[in-house]
Amino acid sequence: MTESLNQSLLTLALDIAKTTSEILVNQRPENMEVESKSTPVDLVTEMDKAAEIHIVKRVKAVRPNDSFLGEEGTALPPDNPSNVKWIIDPIDGTVNYFYNHPYWAISIGVEVDGEIQIGVVAAPLLHETFYAIKGGGAYVLHDGMKKKLKTNSGATIDKALVATGFGYDPERRKKQGALLAELVTIARDTRRAGAAALDFCYVASGRLDAYYEFGLYPWDLAAGSLIVTEAGGKVGGLNGDKLGGDWSLAANADLFDEIDQIVYKLSQKYFN
Ligand code: IPD
Ligand code: CA
Repeated sequence: MTESLNQSLLTLALDIAKTTSEILVNQRPENMEVESKSTPVDLVTEMDKAAEIHIVKRVKAVRPNDSFLGEEGTALPPDNPSNVKWIIDPIDGTVNYFYNHPYWAISIGVEVDGEIQIGVVAAPLLHETFYAIKGGGAYVLHDGMKKKLKTNSGATIDKALVATGFGYDPERRKKQGALLAELVTIARDTRRAGAAALDFCYVASGRLDAYYEFGLYPWDLAAGSLIVTEAGGKVGGLNGDKLGGDWSLAANADLFDEIDQIVYKLSQKYFN
């Protein structure tokens, strides 16, 4: 792939994130139509669907042969597919969006030849757009200002602020809660803010030292994981596994191995 392909994909992804943000903020209905998905607490709103349709339509208008994997069901291999695939979560943090809690984002990851090259995570109500281009660093745009992202360094678990998230299945939540109840006694503190893509970006920004979760999907981690690694952090599964399996971990590079082993041991205790 060429650098100019990546640059043009980034420009397009940033522009689409902007127009999607406008739709989600300006057209958010007072009384939102909402349905449940995997369990009664797993929500999808009419705006999740509208945002995904908008993103796909905008990409297809200029890149008709690209493929898609979208949380709200878009799985489009076109007849004559290009080597580019868009992995999108139109609203990461749907429950927050539903409550008008500002911690939600549009997450757009772009793969070229099977490898993520672009990540854009836009959080309209936080006035921040995080992005990264493979090999080109990670940045945040805030009210028109651009700042390079860098993870923290040097923390040990007792000095680490660690975030996590929960799935929607109550049985899974029981295990996740038990693991967290033990972790909170050894970490500096813990957070559960409700949007995986943003949790990755907060690790990249040094606002968190680490983030882990069981059961993420590709659209939760495609963009955010690149933003972490481009900011100098590490991502992976647990105990040497690659990212993309049951467990996801992102941390500043100094902390990664320690928290990996701690969460791994706890996962053996609570998830087996
Ligand atoms: C959810 C959020 C949440 C995480 C869940 C995800 P959604 O995504 O990222 O923080 O804990 O695992 O499913 O459903 O709001 O797109
Ligand atoms: Ca979502």
